[in-house]
Amino acid sequence: MKNLTKIVIAGVAFAFAAGMSHAATAAENWENSCASCHGEDGKAQTKLGKKLKVRDYTLAAVQAEMKDDEMLKAILDGYFENGKERMKGYKDEYSEQEAKDLVTFIRQLKP
Ligand code: HEC
Repeated sequence: MKNLTKIVIAGVAFAFAAGMSHAATAAENWENSCASCHGEDGKAQTKLGKKLKVRDYTLAAVQAEMKDDEMLKAILDGYFENGKERMKGYKDEYSEQEAKDLVTFIRQLKP
């Protein structure tokens, strides 16, 4: 009986710990999946960002060029130019809501 109590207590403690682990924020997802090319600050001043000629998303002119629905589509399905894939899609990693949160995150990047 004593052992069973211990197991039950351990189970409850585990459930608590699991419930407390939070869903990753857009900033965390950006850092983990996007910053290697786009830069943590969105300026794309990384080795890959420069190599792939990624635009600086902190610039007002670039922000104005981008449309929210196209950004969302790019994040989920990939970004294509003249039929060539320039960025892969992330729909296997991120839900539509997470992708939308990433669009919001990109929109608040500042120079
Ligand atoms: C391997 C490099 C790489 C990674 C990693 C990467 N991207 Fe991109 N991304 C690009 C390139 C290249 C382009 C096209 C050039 C540009 O827009 O500057 C692009 C374009 C975009 C666009 C522009 C779409 C438009 O409408 O103009 C958005 C938004 C975007 N990426 C978001 C993200 C997000 C969010 C992540 C992480 C989940 C991510 N990218 C990860 C390389 C990358």
